[in-house]
Amino acid sequence: MEQFRQTETGLYVLAPAKINLSLLVAGKRLDGYHELETIMAKVDYYDELLVEWGTKPGIELICNGPYWAPDGQDNLVWKACRLLLEKADKNPPIKVTLNKNIPAGTGLGSGSSDAAAALMALNRFANLGISNTDIHSIAAILGSDVNFFLEGPLAFCSGRGEKINPLNVVFPFQAILIIPDISTSTKKVYENYTHNPDIYGQLSAKINAFLDQNKVDFAAKMCANMLEQSCFQLYPELADIKKRVEESVRRSVCLSGSGSTLYCLIDGNDKIQIRDRCRDTVKRDTNCLCKLVSSNGW
Ligand code: C5P
Repeated sequence: MEQFRQTETGLYVLAPAKINLSLLVAGKRLDGYHELETIMAKVDYYDELLVEWGTKPGIELICNGPYWAPDGQDNLVWKACRLLLEKADKNPPIKVTLNKNIPAGTGLGSGSSDAAAALMALNRFANLGISNTDIHSIAAILGSDVNFFLEGPLAFCSGRGEKINPLNVVFPFQAILIIPDISTSTKKVYENYTHNPDIYGQLSAKINAFLDQNKVDFAAKMCANMLEQSCFQLYPELADIKKRVEESVRRSVCLSGSGSTLYCLIDGNDKIQIRDRCRDTVKRDTNCLCKLVSSNGW
């Protein structure tokens, strides 16, 4: 599936979700952010945006369900459009319609992905001619995860998360996303995080050794997420869901980002079995949305 499609009235764009195949915290920075080393992968679960000319001055943002997203200026999509138009020194009337198919606050990066999609789509649609470098600078202002969605589909990200090093490795995968009806606060999860340099050192050495050999699958199987402990302290229901699903499917269940989504990578051999068991378990024991996804091609 292509990311962009020209419609009769505008430019339609898909904004994919991501999962973190690993997430290491290298330490806390002087600016309050945390230095990260994370492998991120896009999956084929999408929000949808349509960028059109508006009928009134300014930027109009319409958010449609099924999930909630903040309206107007509070939405990163609105801010993305504003910053891009400021950079271009233009002020045409713009209307953006967002179909929110991915719940926010679930560690799937949908707000950041929406913002990245808006930057790319508005630049094309309104022919603004803003360079890739400038779009990346705007993305970094909008949030730590936005830059990744300008690249991908698989990357090693560092700094706050905004320094992107695409991994040119073929790593097709399927995963079951277990999305609880809980929206976590990234800020609170980082505030509650206690750094352990020894654990970071060990995990980093192992993951970097795997990456040096292009073994992303081995790195992913470690399920290393240094935010997990903090997240589970704040949201103990998530630890409970993870335990129950792990016992039932007998596979590692990993946390994406700062939560709340948990996921289980599927081996080619046992995918139907695992998928069915996981789906049944999730249905029976939890209140979660369960979604089978594949790695995204772009
Ligand atoms: O960059 P973003 O707005 O997505 O980050 C949300 C919050 O998460 C930040 O305000 C910060 O408290 C925390 N954060 C962090 N270190 C990072 C990324 C985010 O401490 N690398």
